[in-house]
Amino acid sequence: MDKEAISKIQKAAESSIEQAKSLEELERIRIKVFGRKGELTQILRGLSSLPIEERKEIGRLANLAKEQLTARLAARKVELETSQATTEDKIDVTLPGYRLWRGSRHPITQTLDEILAIFVGMGYQEELGPEIETEWYNYDALNFPPDHPARDMIACFYLGQGLLLRSHTSPVQIRVMERKKPPIRIVAPGRVFRPDAFDASHSPVFYQVEGLYVDEGVSMADLKGTLEVFSKKMFGEKTKIRFSPSYFPFTEPSAELAILCVVCEGQGCKTCKNSGWLEILGCGMVHPKVLENVGYDSVKYTGFAFGMGVERIAMIKYAIDDIRLFYENDLRFLEQF
Ligand code: PHE
Repeated sequence: MDKEAISKIQKAAESSIEQAKSLEELERIRIKVFGRKGELTQILRGLSSLPIEERKEIGRLANLAKEQLTARLAARKVELETSQATTEDKIDVTLPGYRLWRGSRHPITQTLDEILAIFVGMGYQEELGPEIETEWYNYDALNFPPDHPARDMIACFYLGQGLLLRSHTSPVQIRVMERKKPPIRIVAPGRVFRPDAFDASHSPVFYQVEGLYVDEGVSMADLKGTLEVFSKKMFGEKTKIRFSPSYFPFTEPSAELAILCVVCEGQGCKTCKNSGWLEILGCGMVHPKVLENVGYDSVKYTGFAFGMGVERIAMIKYAIDDIRLFYENDLRFLEQF
């Protein structure tokens, strides 16, 4: 038995103590060194058979190794105990998770998509037109006389050089008819612009959907049937509708479509301004002059057109009383859709 054997045992034990991953492993190391047949135990037991001088020296070294290893074992035990405790603390399965923010489509987009899907289901195709228009497309081609009040400076945004921000989506009717021959069945969604101050029911920018159907033999009955189907798909099968006479320069006859007030069911309330009805769109048979303006034979072809405000449809459908809610990006509002 020599000094090297002791330092070898000590070094080996120290490194396995350092690498021990669990309390069980640590215990196995302790037994290997200090157990009844442990490496150091045997050395200490063998001391008595050594000559006195050697016994002193080896005994001192063996006891020193025992002391140091005992201290190492104790320190590593504390380390393992605390690290096991903190990993257990970290995985508290009862803690609430992090909230995942999920995006969603804006209620106007949802309503717009719903409107378009209904007409696409009836064979209509989607068309788009520019937001900057010429006076010809926005007014003249649509049969607005030169002195019509809608052309007033306070009724639309003029950009100069005969250009303006379109005040409705009806100019898309003209652009499509110029490009195509009947049969035409289109819906045209888009933004329109009017110099109105913001209030509960007005915004200087809002969305419209235009519809146009032109072919041989299209009648007012087709208009009524189509818009009745639309109203019921949009607001529910039980929806009651009413057509009443109206006026637009580009349709003749012109009409206004209303649904029975969804709030008071016709009794009269604040929402329907005591009329019992909610106007949802303007419509009519395409004026022969408009057909002629795009080079169509107005004897052979007839058609109907309609235009609706998307915000208004959404407000009625979801009982929203202020149009400004759509533009304020308040998540408490938006997350309800
Ligand atoms: N362009 C009209 C408006 O903005 C709506 C409309 C479209 C009416 C088509 C009749 C036919 O009020």
